[in-house]
Amino acid sequence: MKIDSVKLVYFSPTATTQAVVRGIARGTGYENAEELDITRPAARMQSLKTSDNDLLIVGVPVYLGRIPALADEWLRTLQAGNTPAVCVVVYGNRAFDDALLELQDVLSARGCRPVAGAAFIGQHSFSTAATPTATGRPDAGDLEQAAVFGQNILKKLEAVLSADQIPALSLPGSRPYRMETCHPYKKGTVFWNVDFIAVSDACTQCGICGEGCPVGAIDPKNSRAIDTESCITCCACIRSCPEHAKTIKPGIVMDASERVYSLHRERKEPEYFV
Ligand SMILES: Cc1cc2nc3c(=O)[nH]c(=O)nc-3n(C[C@H](O)[C@H](O)[C@H](O)COP(=O)(O)O)c2cc1C
Repeated sequence: MKIDSVKLVYFSPTATTQAVVRGIARGTGYENAEELDITRPAARMQSLKTSDNDLLIVGVPVYLGRIPALADEWLRTLQAGNTPAVCVVVYGNRAFDDALLELQDVLSARGCRPVAGAAFIGQHSFSTAATPTATGRPDAGDLEQAAVFGQNILKKLEAVLSADQIPALSLPGSRPYRMETCHPYKKGTVFWNVDFIAVSDACTQCGICGEGCPVGAIDPKNSRAIDTESCITCCACIRSCPEHAKTIKPGIVMDASERVYSLHRERKEPEYFV
């Protein structure tokens, strides 16, 4: 079948998912693929309509074995008209559990025809100098594999006459999904409503961290003022600080960072389903 355009949609607070979906797009050979980065609140205000001549590549990180609630909310507004779609999850070397299957389910319900799926590894959001889980991932080897995956998707599409002929795709995972959705606004759950970010005197109040926050939890006039109830613990602010002024305090997120590093430091490799 003929593809007119490749469209990328991704939620990527610390940019590993963005790197992976761009790598896959490169492999498809479509220059100037359109990108919709739904990480920031303003971008999630716009919706997207796609047709059966588009190829949609959708990437999200894995949060507690699921797709992030914010990405899920936006994806439920997608209007896809029989659009071939690639499901991509990026996880921090622990596990992707049911996230890939969940992404496939959400996209199918919105009118997509899942053509392929993949789980890549990205530097863990909670990684620190002392707990460097999957640091540097995706690396050059991962991105090379992403490009080959992109080429194989195109070959698969070339072998069919229309989106209706795309064979059913079987992705790993179980239903009902094992973990509860990681919802930022859900109070009283283990992860949320945490005060986990330390801000040192190196903070210059440049405001970069606030601009990149996916939920607008950082006061634009005071980078130290973080709304801990809306914070989704994505660590974008820590990663984006040019002065390295933000770090993870001792507590629940630090404990998770140490646990992941002690149990899941052995290198995992990307998995593809074409
Ligand atoms: C709240 C939260 C939950 C996470 N849960 C998992 C998980 O269940 N399994 C895993 O391997 N990584 C997990 N991670 C790590 C991210 O999936 C990983 O670092 C990913 O590369 C981040 O993507 P991004 O760079 O696009 O933001 C979690 C990260 C956060 C912030």
